[in-house]
Amino acid sequence: MSRSLVVGNWKMHASQAQVNELLGALKAGMPALDRIEVAVCPPYPYLMQAAHLLAGSGIALGAQNLAVEASGAYTGEVSGPMLGDVGCRYVIVGHSERRRLYGEDNALVAQKFRAAVSHGLVPILCVGEQLAEREADATEAVLAAQIDAVLELCGDEALAGAVIAYEPVWAIGTGRVATPEQAQASHRFIRDRVSRGGRTPTLLYGGSVKPDNAAGLFAQPDVDGGLIGGASLVADQFLSICKAAL
Ligand code: G3P
Repeated sequence: MSRSLVVGNWKMHASQAQVNELLGALKAGMPALDRIEVAVCPPYPYLMQAAHLLAGSGIALGAQNLAVEASGAYTGEVSGPMLGDVGCRYVIVGHSERRRLYGEDNALVAQKFRAAVSHGLVPILCVGEQLAEREADATEAVLAAQIDAVLELCGDEALAGAVIAYEPVWAIGTGRVATPEQAQASHRFIRDRVSRGGRTPTLLYGGSVKPDNAAGLFAQPDVDGGLIGGASLVADQFLSICKAAL
């Protein structure tokens, strides 16, 4: 890949006023985007507002979830074509919070991945093990199962051209970040599993990335950037993390 990628996952945070403030600060402080790509993923109600604010800035827009279906009687759902229509380039699929809190299993995540690709969005596929799985030495088996479900439904090519975020569940929102070596080992495993025909996915690390640990993680050969939660809501912190990816 040519450029590092840093994505802010705002989760269920923000208000119209905060969107104005945060995106204003990001636009003012963002380094030149020739060596990195940056995207933010606000909650659905703020996507249009964010799209207007980001126009011409070079900062891309993403969403945090999408429906499998393109349209129809699916109360409360938001489809891929709608996300594209409001200016999204990316969409997160299979975040561990959706797997854990909303029952999204590997098969459903794979369907969402396929829906994203078919509607011209770039899926950011989240994978990662729970603490008990790491302690039981099952990290690679968990990652393999999460990835293979998508490979089987969508084919090698779809994954090789996508973004995959390795987010160990025990590192999300806990302040307990993976060591650069742990991140690198999992990223290497993922890259080996999905790279086909010379194409290789962009691999992000996510889980308690902060300004003081970002550079060490991004220095790893198979870490192409980060998926940032809490620190993406604080302009100075997110900007520092983006600069660490240069
Ligand atoms: O998707 C990003 C994420 O789950 C990591 O969250 O707050 O640990 O950076 P955080």
